[in-house]
Amino acid sequence: MTSTTEKPTPPQPSSAPKPRPTTKSTPAPTPSKGKKAAPSPSKPRPWWSRWVPQGVPEDDRGRMRMVVDNIILHIHPTKVPRRTLRFTYTWGLGGLSAFLLVLLISTGVLLEMHYTPSAPQAYLDMLQLESQVPFGSFIRAIHHWAANLLVVTVTLHMLRVFLTGAYRPPRGTNWVIGIALFLLVLGANFTGYLLPWDQLAYWAITVGTGIIAYVPFVGDTLSRLLLGGSEVSGRTLLNFYTLHISVIPISLVLLASYHFWRIRKDGGLTIPKAPGEVLRRGLERVTTIPHLVRCELVYALVWAALLVGWAMWVPAPLEGIANPNVSPNPAKAPWYFAGLQELLLHFHPVIAAIFIPTVALALLAALPWLDPFPEHVGTYFRSRRGRFLALMAVGLALLLTPAWVAADAFLLDWIGWLPDWPTWISNGILPLAFLFAGVVLLHSFLRLTLQTTHEERVLFWFIFFFTAFVVLTAIGIFFRGPNMDLYWPWAMPTGTHG
Ligand code: HEM
Repeated sequence: MTSTTEKPTPPQPSSAPKPRPTTKSTPAPTPSKGKKAAPSPSKPRPWWSRWVPQGVPEDDRGRMRMVVDNIILHIHPTKVPRRTLRFTYTWGLGGLSAFLLVLLISTGVLLEMHYTPSAPQAYLDMLQLESQVPFGSFIRAIHHWAANLLVVTVTLHMLRVFLTGAYRPPRGTNWVIGIALFLLVLGANFTGYLLPWDQLAYWAITVGTGIIAYVPFVGDTLSRLLLGGSEVSGRTLLNFYTLHISVIPISLVLLASYHFWRIRKDGGLTIPKAPGEVLRRGLERVTTIPHLVRCELVYALVWAALLVGWAMWVPAPLEGIANPNVSPNPAKAPWYFAGLQELLLHFHPVIAAIFIPTVALALLAALPWLDPFPEHVGTYFRSRRGRFLALMAVGLALLLTPAWVAADAFLLDWIGWLPDWPTWISNGILPLAFLFAGVVLLHSFLRLTLQTTHEERVLFWFIFFFTAFVVLTAIGIFFRGPNMDLYWPWAMPTGTHG
């Protein structure tokens, strides 16, 4: 086992030939059996040496140089604080998202070789891919499941960054870049959804794009531009295909590269701390090779194995060919927009699809400046009381969200009670004002009765609204049946067609 702490190499006389970098003053270690030595500096390096590892050097200096020299490993610093390697701090979620991104691009290129972006050929290509192309169904399943998993891992990564306060200065810019990455991941999934050109795709995109028309002033133009007409058609397929295979992946790769670069620019990862702990100077640092790279490799291999196993057993769904004349009942948006679709059942579309998401995104982006205090960065839930507040936020959101959905479905009838009012007020501003009054009351309780600090209240509300949105998404996916009525999942009637 080699040492991981770096010791300075004694100065050498200028005339003496330069020894191979090593931490030991004794002769440079000869490569042990089975291990290759680093290439000698005197030998010209082959052109591919920056891409393919040339064996792992025995000493720390050599390993650090290897990170600097390698075009892929170069995104890492040469050394990292040992604490940041704690799995239960990052859960490897950012790395897993990056891995999935690479996997999606590779499998996407393979799928593209057997795909024609025109209707109905796109669907026929899918049939052929599923039944006649060797490994076609498997590659499609990997692409499908990795894309869905990416939405989950990016969301959880954002949650982890929030819970550890890692968005606070100097990492504010990276947090905002992260939000852009999150939106791009949703965009990639949404545009990809239409490409198989089956019933599921056609109607989910019809429901999803219907929301765009509600954007004030420019909604109609925007919707026509994206759809290439007034409804989902072969033109939409081509537009979505172009976005899916060029604009979105290129933006994702460029922004993700900037995201990684910024992690280093912002001083590396935040350091995990126990509640109340003050970090002392001179934390132990270990070389990236092998410590970090080994963890990354093992993690990537485990997830690759899980995905391969899953994709072998569970193929990507493919329904009948898209038929604009037969709409399924219910017609649901893709699952990651189910929460938004659920909001549409309770509020006027301008409030549900435009106002609430815009305000939520703006608040999310402004978080590093609304809550900039550096003190508890690196501590999950900020403090011990923060843990209690987080639990309280989850509990309240789990109770209040379904209660409000049920009340709105069975008791409240804003439009019926105020038939002469414009619906954007009776079914938009008014219910929103009621909910806002509830938020103000609870906020005052947190501030005056529980005497919470500003950062604790930010923590509470983020967790409350995050949980509420997850509950709305679950209701949309599992509890909505024909005509978007509420059903228990075990009593769900089978879908009908309109
Ligand atoms: C494709 C999407 C994304 C990829 C591939 C990605 C990748 C990464 C990686 C590899 C890290 C290093 C630490 C870790 O694994 O947790 C990281 C850190 C970070 N990410 Fe992301 N990320 C993505 C999306 C996001 C999102 C959605 C946000 C927040 C809105 C975000 C904000 C941050 C911040 C602030 C850090 C620094 C955390 C710290 O210092 O503790 N990222 N990201």
